[in-house]
Amino acid sequence: MYAGSTETRSPPITVPMLRQFKQEGRRICALTAYDASFAKLADDADVDVILVGDSLGMVVHGKRSTLSVSVGDIVYHGRAVARGSKRALRIADMPYASYPDPRTAFTHAARLIAEGECAMVKLEGAGQVIESIRYLVEREVPVCAHLGLTPQSVLRLGGYKVQGRGDAAAQALRDAARAAQDAGAELLVLECVPSPVAAAVRADLEIPVIGIGAGPQCDGQILVCYDVIGISSGRRPRFVRDFLSGRDSVLDAFRQYVADVRSGVFPAAEHEYAE
Ligand code: KIV
Repeated sequence: MYAGSTETRSPPITVPMLRQFKQEGRRICALTAYDASFAKLADDADVDVILVGDSLGMVVHGKRSTLSVSVGDIVYHGRAVARGSKRALRIADMPYASYPDPRTAFTHAARLIAEGECAMVKLEGAGQVIESIRYLVEREVPVCAHLGLTPQSVLRLGGYKVQGRGDAAAQALRDAARAAQDAGAELLVLECVPSPVAAAVRADLEIPVIGIGAGPQCDGQILVCYDVIGISSGRRPRFVRDFLSGRDSVLDAFRQYVADVRSGVFPAAEHEYAE
């Protein structure tokens, strides 16, 4: 059961520290969390970043996609996560259709920061989203961009498919990543892209690139917390490893995940996508 207060070993992670970690070559460890208990375990395991992800629509609500998640859902879960975590930087996902234009994006992002108690918001995609990123950053909302497989595009993509394959798609991804950085994004999540493409994006940017199914040459990794302990709904994605297997507790599993990300043991070749 969730026990309340947390003893912190190191100071809270701030937005400027993310770039500093990249410069120092210290890999960033990130996990999703949706409640206080998992947030506390992630914090105790020394996770740097907790994402209140819209994946909650699938792994908590049991939906087939993230599309039904609302701003209110992220606020609700963000507040719970905030009660459990003291050290990790909390990022709130901006749900599907909550950022159709810069002003609407700001209205919703401000709620996620003020009511959802997060320090950064994450937006999927490029194109017109770049203008929303710029608008938010100019109004003191730190932004994480999310490129590659963007689950909110599942209807257009026709499924959850690897992105960035082929020269044109890889170049488009690199251009989009650069545009997100130029618009002021402080972090980039890159999902399900071939490892060499992720490595090229990472080399292009000054901001850290956090991979999920993007190979080992990113500045950090993120996984859905349930995937890390072997509770994956449906078919387990290639990039997932069950860290609870052979261990006695969720805390040990999270600690192993952190250790393996920091040392570069995870992700391994079997978790990568080829070009
Ligand atoms: O919502 C989520 O959990 C995410 C991660 C998969 C990056 O966006």
